[in-house]
Amino acid sequence: MSIKTATLNGVATIEIARPEKKNAITQAMYRAMAEAVEAATADPAVRAVLLTGQPGIFTSGNDIEDFMQRPPGDAESPAFVFMRALIGCDKPVVAAVTGAAIGIGTTMLLHCDFVYVSDEARLAMPFVSLGLVPEFGSSLIVPQLMGNVRAADKLLLGEPFTGAEAVEAGIASAVLPAPEVVAHARRIAERFNALPPGAVRETKRLMRRARNAAVLETVGVEGGVFAQRLQSPEAKEAFSAFFQKRKPDFSKF
Ligand code: COA
Repeated sequence: MSIKTATLNGVATIEIARPEKKNAITQAMYRAMAEAVEAATADPAVRAVLLTGQPGIFTSGNDIEDFMQRPPGDAESPAFVFMRALIGCDKPVVAAVTGAAIGIGTTMLLHCDFVYVSDEARLAMPFVSLGLVPEFGSSLIVPQLMGNVRAADKLLLGEPFTGAEAVEAGIASAVLPAPEVVAHARRIAERFNALPPGAVRETKRLMRRARNAAVLETVGVEGGVFAQRLQSPEAKEAFSAFFQKRKPDFSKF
């Protein structure tokens, strides 16, 4: 299993653990992550969720091979179920990011409450260069956070950005030296043991109430376009090029 879960001292940890594939997330892994978020949300002993990867890699995003073999078709696909669980989680979610957070790796951070990144973290949403489109609310949230001009850099060009830029944009909470990121994120998550859980949950719900309606509507629209794009010749060229370790050729489209 490439997702490790554990609950300790009020914190449910969800750890992406597939370093040999740069923590690329398969459908089975999304399923495990969805179950873990749902269980943490329901368990009264859990006060906060900690989402983390491996040293030097948060996640390289969707597993591209899995994508080609089992393209997510509808709102019941495991990635959707996981993201809905994350968006709907009314307990604080703290992310610890060292290294790369690509594609959904960055998108999921947009739905966390606290995001601690290492000084070597690189975030990127290279959907266009894969022949795809932004997903899970990023086409709405990224322009809202950064403004259209900086969002164009990230979403149209797919430019990677540093942890410091993520902090400036309001995507991340703070940049820390890599060895300190997970411990710091855990300390923040554990602070919720000393706070009244009902007030925390109601406050998170209120903070998200207005935005979540628009986010969920956007997730549905993006999902439809994304599923079509997965079948496009542009995406097929991009995926083949990735596995053949060559540059994609979009000149024929
Ligand atoms: N899906 C499937 N396999 C992936 C993957 C992904 N998203 N990301 C990495 N891998 C695999 C590679 O194919 C390689 O497998 P191999 O050892 O069998 O050849 C292995 O993981 C190591 O990756 P590699 O590219 O050699 O590592 P790197 O350190 O040079 O680069 C990344 C790391 C994350 C920058 C690079 O792997 C990358 O760009 N991945 C794709 C990211 C992406 O486009 N994600 C969006 C998906 S929607």
